[in-house]
Amino acid sequence: MKVLVTGGAGFIGSHVCDEFLRSGHEVIALDDLSGGKKENLDPRVRLVVQDIRSREAAELIKAEKPQVLCHLAAQMDVRRSVDDPSFDADVNIRGMLNLLEAARVSGVKKVIFSSTGGAIYGEQDVFPAPENHPTRPVSPYGVSKAAGELYLGYYRAQYGLPYVALRYANVYGPRQNPHGEAGVVAIFSQRAIAGQGCTIYGEGKQTRDFVFGPDVARANRLAFEKDYVGAINIGTGVETDINRLYALLAEAAGSSAQVTHAPARPGEQMRSCIDNALAKKVLGWEPTVDLREGLRRTIAFFREKAGAPARAHG
Ligand SMILES: NC(=O)c1ccc[n+]([C@@H]2O[C@H](COP(=O)([O-])OP(=O)(O)OC[C@H]3O[C@@H](n4cnc5c(N)ncnc54)[C@H](O)[C@@H]3O)[C@@H](O)[C@H]2O)c1
Repeated sequence: MKVLVTGGAGFIGSHVCDEFLRSGHEVIALDDLSGGKKENLDPRVRLVVQDIRSREAAELIKAEKPQVLCHLAAQMDVRRSVDDPSFDADVNIRGMLNLLEAARVSGVKKVIFSSTGGAIYGEQDVFPAPENHPTRPVSPYGVSKAAGELYLGYYRAQYGLPYVALRYANVYGPRQNPHGEAGVVAIFSQRAIAGQGCTIYGEGKQTRDFVFGPDVARANRLAFEKDYVGAINIGTGVETDINRLYALLAEAAGSSAQVTHAPARPGEQMRSCIDNALAKKVLGWEPTVDLREGLRRTIAFFREKAGAPARAHG
């Protein structure tokens, strides 16, 4: 099969490329390299440097006729979406529509969309949140991801285009971009390796559901292989607060640098954790790497990148 991965040179996208390559598929990455890097890619992946909003991106889909479209390219900085909601919508909504319009006439068998299980639910009523929890996004980014899901429902109804919207929890791991949704792990890792302290906003009691990047990539492949159509949470169902996250990271990095607390950021979501029962049932997916082990691998990656020898740990 031929798989086109938008945002393929990014953190999660490059793991998705690896996952499909390992299963013997041909992989094309479409990425404008605004956040991604060529070095993230396996040399067997063909990289096409284009903006998803461009005519060239649509033409690429029409010419290549991939069976699978994994759509990960996005404006994914929540704060930037607040500062410039038009830019967020332009990339995340108009860019996605450009791809879907090309996909519907090109024989694409399934679209697998990277949605969000954090920003889409907003402050949750129940923990962990299942897929039928009300969606109440509190940022333009969350709104544009919810819109992406609604458009997928429309393309399914109107043109019969199957899709899965994978609602990721906070994804972390090797190749992570510090500017993204779960950038906290990349930022803390790089600082801990350099022996620098970290700043935690507020008391550090905010919780998140941290899921390892390669586990998320596997969910993309399973979403193509299985018949399900709709939204599926991809998370661990485990809530971890930021103080605990920092303690685990400092342990993995062998760092004793101090934490400082800064005033809480207004509007920050307090708790986030998603239910993965549906993923288990319809995809046969569950996380395989727990947080302690995932952080150990993440620290090893950033240490190697910084040119320091990877430390034997655990
Ligand atoms: N990291 C997380 O915790 C998380 C959580 C939920 C959802 N997501 C979603 O997963 C996807 C991947 O996120 P990531 O963490 O790997 O981020 P990332 O920044 O590493 O990857 C995004 C990629 O998209 C590319 N891109 C951005 N705008 C583009 C455009 N206009 N045209 C072409 N390429 C463009 C970037 O160059 C980058 O390679 C995003 O859709 C994001 O919203 C991520």
